[in-house]
Amino acid sequence: MPSRPPDPRERPIAVFDSGVGGLTVLHELLVQLPQEDFVYLADSARFPYGERSGSELERFSLEIAEELLGRGAKLLVVACNSATAAALPALRARMMQTTLGIDVLGVVQPGAVRAVAATRNGRVGLMATPATVRSGSYAEAIAAADPFVELTSVACPDLTAIIEGGFPFDARVVDTVRRYCEPLREAEIDTLILGCTHYPLVRPMIQRMLGRGVEIVASGTPVALQVEHVLGARGLATRETGEGDYRFLCTGDVDAFRALGTRFLQMPLGPVERVALRTEAAA
Ligand code: DGL
Repeated sequence: MPSRPPDPRERPIAVFDSGVGGLTVLHELLVQLPQEDFVYLADSARFPYGERSGSELERFSLEIAEELLGRGAKLLVVACNSATAAALPALRARMMQTTLGIDVLGVVQPGAVRAVAATRNGRVGLMATPATVRSGSYAEAIAAADPFVELTSVACPDLTAIIEGGFPFDARVVDTVRRYCEPLREAEIDTLILGCTHYPLVRPMIQRMLGRGVEIVASGTPVALQVEHVLGARGLATRETGEGDYRFLCTGDVDAFRALGTRFLQMPLGPVERVALRTEAAA
């Protein structure tokens, strides 16, 4: 394990997801905060998260957070909607108790606030995994931002697996996405939240199906802005001015992660290290 820089500002920002999806969030972080260092953990041995129970996701997230804290993270970003929806309060409570006392940011609230700000007719749509829709987290976050906004949620059980397995995109991917867009068209939404970090890969398809008048909100940009704010407000931004580095931890097949990951990150992947988490083997 690399030794931790004693200055908290020079420690990495930790990011995690069930696999490659969160790389769409890391992409925005690398673009908007190029000087920071990042460590990304993909729990691909237990992918997909989207149909797992809330208690399971909470347990997995706490294990991952311990691993990343052990690697000296100064901030934890949950780049997975399903894990954010299930585990954010527990993660925040646990990370605040640690000696480093690090903050935890999720993807739900920044996306919800952005969508409420974007809608003009008060009708927002959500495409997400069954776990995220079932949790009601987006409904809660949207109601907190504006109780008059109406949310139409569509659970998309197979979409993450289809996106991962569907390169190059074929008719099956297009038909699946079209099916999930149908209730959103009927609801006449003018803003859509991509409530799963895999979905930006099918964003052009969705935009074409829903029409250019629909604003599509993905997690990456609002989360990166919130990270920037938190680093500034807590005095945790690095003092370095060059490009930081980024590296990867993976609980599953490292070669498969590397092959798929470059598509999601749209940048070269750095070193990928295989990690075993405490109870991963029992999952
Ligand atoms: N990318 C994750 C999300 O944002 C989960 C996908 C999955 O593992 O099912 O919810």
